Amino acid sequence: MTTQQAMTTQQAMTTQQLPTATALVTGASRGFGRAIATALAKAGPQVVGVARDRNRLQELHEELGAGFTPVVADAADPVVAGQLIDQWRPQVLVLNAGASPLARPLQRHTWQTFSRNWEVDVQQAFNWTREALLLPLDPGSVVIALSSGAAVNGSPLSGGYAGAKAAIRFLTRYAAEESERDGLGVRFISLLPKLTPATGLGSAAVAAYAARDGEDVAAYLEKTGPALTAEQVGRAAVELAAGPGNDRDAYLLTAAGLTALA
Ligand SMILES: NC(=O)c1ccc[n+]([C@@H]2O[C@H](COP(=O)([O-])OP(=O)(O)OC[C@H]3O[C@@H](n4cnc5c(N)ncnc54)[C@H](OP(=O)(O)O)[C@@H]3O)[C@@H](O)[C@H]2O)c1
Repeated sequence: MTTQQAMTTQQAMTTQQLPTATALVTGASRGFGRAIATALAKAGPQVVGVARDRNRLQELHEELGAGFTPVVADAADPVVAGQLIDQWRPQVLVLNAGASPLARPLQRHTWQTFSRNWEVDVQQAFNWTREALLLPLDPGSVVIALSSGAAVNGSPLSGGYAGAKAAIRFLTRYAAEESERDGLGVRFISLLPKLTPATGLGSAAVAAYAARDGEDVAAYLEKTGPALTAEQVGRAAVELAAGPGNDRDAYLLTAAGLTALA
């Protein structure tokens, strides 16, 4: 067992402690973020959900009740990260917000479209991770950042998406090392879900890859195996937030469950 694994095992929140925690989820208005906010709210914590779409957040508030607090804001804005971390001091912070990449081959991107996920996803992960280290969050807290299976396998129709998600995995690991060096007891984990048509972002990507292979979506999905659901992503986030054994700093997530990465 490495020092990092030993530290995270000792400091991990238990499932009994989870209901008293405050969780903050970025990109909570739809897709994975909505499912993560729902799964966390059902596991007990007070959940703060951040996104730009007021109506969708309000719908989720009506569904989840008083346990969910909607916050309409841009998660990539450094001022938003600083204000909300100071205000809520979450014990569970899920950095899920992400831009939908333009689904085109490399030469049909401009620098602006290529770098979109750096401006939104990476900037968000950087700002919030930095704030979590500087405050710092309480010992036993956990920060879960959404990377992607694309960080391992590439994503040739998504411009800079795969590189952005790889950068999130790296910066999360750097943060785990800084937490350990300073004895903060804050875990930093990156979650790498496999591409799935279960969300708006995923269905657009699946349609683009199917078209590129000259197949319809059903045939493409048959080839790529069982699809991950948003509910599975929600359950995985709860499992990583609390519970024994989840002591690594990166996990791949497929329909078959979580696999720790070296
Ligand atoms: N779906 C997949 O197959 C897949 C696979 C691997 C990783 N991921 C990652 O998982 C995360 C969630 O993806 P998804 O598939 O659920 O996408 P989605 O359905 O398009 O949802 C994206 C969420 O991010 C929010 N968002 C985007 N930009 C934001 C900003 N600047 N500030 C606040 N919220 C923002 C959106 O809310 P508003 O528009 O209301 O702001 C929405 O709630 C992303 O980081 C994505 O890269 C997805």
